[in-house]
Amino acid sequence: MEKTRLIAPYIKYEEVEEDLKEIFATGIFSSGTYGELFKKELSNSLKVNYSHLTTSATTALWISLKMFGINNSDEVIVSDFSFPATANVVEDLGAKPVFADVSLDTFNMNPKELERLISSKTKAVIFVNALGNPSGIKEIFDICKSYKIPLIEDAACAIGSKIEGYNCGTFSDISCISFHPRKLICTGEGGAIITNNETWSKWLEVKLKHGASSRTDYGLIFSDFGYNFRLSEIQSLLGYVQLKKLKQIISERNKIRDTYIKYLYPLGFVPQKIEKGALFNCQSIVFKIPKGINRNKLINFLKTQGIESTLGTYSMSSNSYFLDKYKVIYKNSNFLEKNTITFPCFNGVNLIPIINTISDFMKK
Ligand SMILES: Cc1ncc(COP(=O)(O)O)c(C=O)c1O
Repeated sequence: MEKTRLIAPYIKYEEVEEDLKEIFATGIFSSGTYGELFKKELSNSLKVNYSHLTTSATTALWISLKMFGINNSDEVIVSDFSFPATANVVEDLGAKPVFADVSLDTFNMNPKELERLISSKTKAVIFVNALGNPSGIKEIFDICKSYKIPLIEDAACAIGSKIEGYNCGTFSDISCISFHPRKLICTGEGGAIITNNETWSKWLEVKLKHGASSRTDYGLIFSDFGYNFRLSEIQSLLGYVQLKKLKQIISERNKIRDTYIKYLYPLGFVPQKIEKGALFNCQSIVFKIPKGINRNKLINFLKTQGIESTLGTYSMSSNSYFLDKYKVIYKNSNFLEKNTITFPCFNGVNLIPIINTISDFMKK
């Protein structure tokens, strides 16, 4: 039986063959021209002053919090409907992740919840563009600005999404992007940090490279201690080639989403709401399931037909680690974890069998 995956990478071997030969010929597998090209292309296409490559969105988020000096006396407010990396990085630094419930429509942080949770201990806010949806970021930005709290955008899923013409990741103070294979641009593993702040960019430039601030003829000059979160040349090449196609990728994914909505909405599946004026990159096509339908049974049924599907994403506060420690459950994100489903979306996906299989399940 042919298998339909949730996503397929937007890159073919032939697109990178010549450049791969070049990498092998020069032997430069790290800190070379492809990393620089990818960084430049990121800044240009997202219209942001500074881009830094990292090994993942997780390391990007971790070092961003580190930069803001987050430690064990602090609280960081995080959107609760997200992949656990968003809260794990806060926990790892000894700070307390304070979960903010989300809108049942957009799946993004509820501004009223944010205001309710802000305290003298709040040292940063992490807004998650849930599944790539930028809706609501402006209100969150305004609140953070009025309280003078740094806003970190977990734009792991949101490359290319826009709101009122601004790219996701450029509203907030600093943003973190993922290039994991479930994202629109896949480098195997990988991530980036984008910001318009020169001071932070300079700090990151040094910290991401072991603390080295310059190079002389005889070696590096270490002006600080640091880390190695560099992306390799092969990964940078993969990212660079796909980034050039971002507009086309988003346009294709939106057409796929429209088709799903056309056939599934009449069956009772409700799509994630996208704010007026926003461009959604459709990182995941997620629906709330119709009343009376058992979501897990639907996932299993699709699996028997070779179709991959999964839950929307997680209510982090309901994960056993965080639940045992903080003992809070948030109603909306908990509901969304249990009652949403992600369907396959990639260039060339054959939607007819998927939609027919879903319809068959609904008739059972
Ligand atoms: C919202 C969100 N934040 C962070 C991450 C972590 O990204 P990475 O796998 O690049 O570390 C993910 C991964 O799925 C995510 O969806």
